[in-house]
Amino acid sequence: MRNKSFQIKSHYRDYDVHWHSFDDKSFQDVFAGSRVAVIDKNVFELYQDRVGTIDSLEKVIIQEAREELKTAESSLNICQQLLDCGFSRGEKLLVIGGGIVQDLVTFAASILFRGVPWVFIPTTLLAQSDSCLGGKSSINFGNWKNQLGNFYPPVEIHIAPEYLKTLKAEDIRSGLGEIVKVHLINGADNVSRMEKNFSSLTSDDQKMSEAIYRALKLKAAIIEQDEFDTGLRLKMNYGHTFGHALESAKEFDISHGVAVNVGADLANYVSSKMGMISNADYEYLNSFLKTNLNRNDLTNVNLDLFLNALKHDKKNKPGEYGLILPDRIGNVELTFVPMGGGIEQYISEYFSTENINKVFS
Ligand SMILES: NC(=O)c1ccc[n+]([C@@H]2O[C@H](COP(=O)([O-])OP(=O)(O)OC[C@H]3O[C@@H](n4cnc5c(N)ncnc54)[C@H](O)[C@@H]3O)[C@@H](O)[C@H]2O)c1
Repeated sequence: MRNKSFQIKSHYRDYDVHWHSFDDKSFQDVFAGSRVAVIDKNVFELYQDRVGTIDSLEKVIIQEAREELKTAESSLNICQQLLDCGFSRGEKLLVIGGGIVQDLVTFAASILFRGVPWVFIPTTLLAQSDSCLGGKSSINFGNWKNQLGNFYPPVEIHIAPEYLKTLKAEDIRSGLGEIVKVHLINGADNVSRMEKNFSSLTSDDQKMSEAIYRALKLKAAIIEQDEFDTGLRLKMNYGHTFGHALESAKEFDISHGVAVNVGADLANYVSSKMGMISNADYEYLNSFLKTNLNRNDLTNVNLDLFLNALKHDKKNKPGEYGLILPDRIGNVELTFVPMGGGIEQYISEYFSTENINKVFS
């Protein structure tokens, strides 16, 4: 495998992304460099015997990865456990898990002693291909998703694709959702490249590893220009406005990346209804996106909850939804759409049984 390591430029400090196999000495050294780790509960149970180096850690804080636990209280609880074990500002905190553990620890690491260095080993497809980069923390608050947060990148990221072998199919689908998304916002060539390779990713480790690398490089190019989400990086939010609303409306009975895929399809649908893209473009993108979707993803959606959640999106202005909508294949733009001006009808049509039957006929 060619060396895929690369560096990310950041206003905090530049940080490196490294690639490993479990048996590499360089991977064992990552564990040896920390005394304390926060580890996803399932990852700990699956890997405590397989990656023997977990034994070398003095203190392991086990964190359950459930969306209902992605709260400020959970982050403060991590801070408490770090204080209890005498964690000092000069130490590197090792973090092993997916996006939920990452969000919780990013927030905790940013506030403990006004910031402690943390090293991230992402273990889900979504975290390896997307969330590990960019330093965002996103914490749920009240009934709404990702309302609190800040930016606090890790000092190092270490990717070992072997972790993906134990993921559930739904978590693979979720990671694929973010991989698809970053390609859909990066030009028509990237859209067609991903569309052609998509069906072989789950059966070909090499292709999957290349797709993770490519997704990270596409994201890196965006966050290096707009680390703090003021312009270009907002495009990464494609599928997320509707996706977060869907997560709330289905009471989190859908994985994040899959919700993002539905959200992208709905954004395309709305865009075609508003005349921003042609119906043929919508159909083309829909035929690709639905290869990662199934009927259940679009059913049992509480529309009131969906529309209410939409009103809480960070990009909104008073009286207007801030939506990331496509204006052609491979490009999206932040578009303000009046609340109560007809878009609610398009959303209702999209989730109607008639439309779902049509999409999955
Ligand atoms: N901060 C960001 O930039 C950012 C970006 C995208 C998504 N997110 C957030 O990430 C979260 C979703 O993260 P995720 O998709 O990584 O999933 P996750 O963290 O929810 O983990 C999914 C499940 O997989 C388990 N798991 C983790 N690694 C495993 C492994 N190697 N083998 C077996 N099981 C494993 C977990 O215990 C959990 O049950 C959402 O809350 C989303 O909002 C954050």
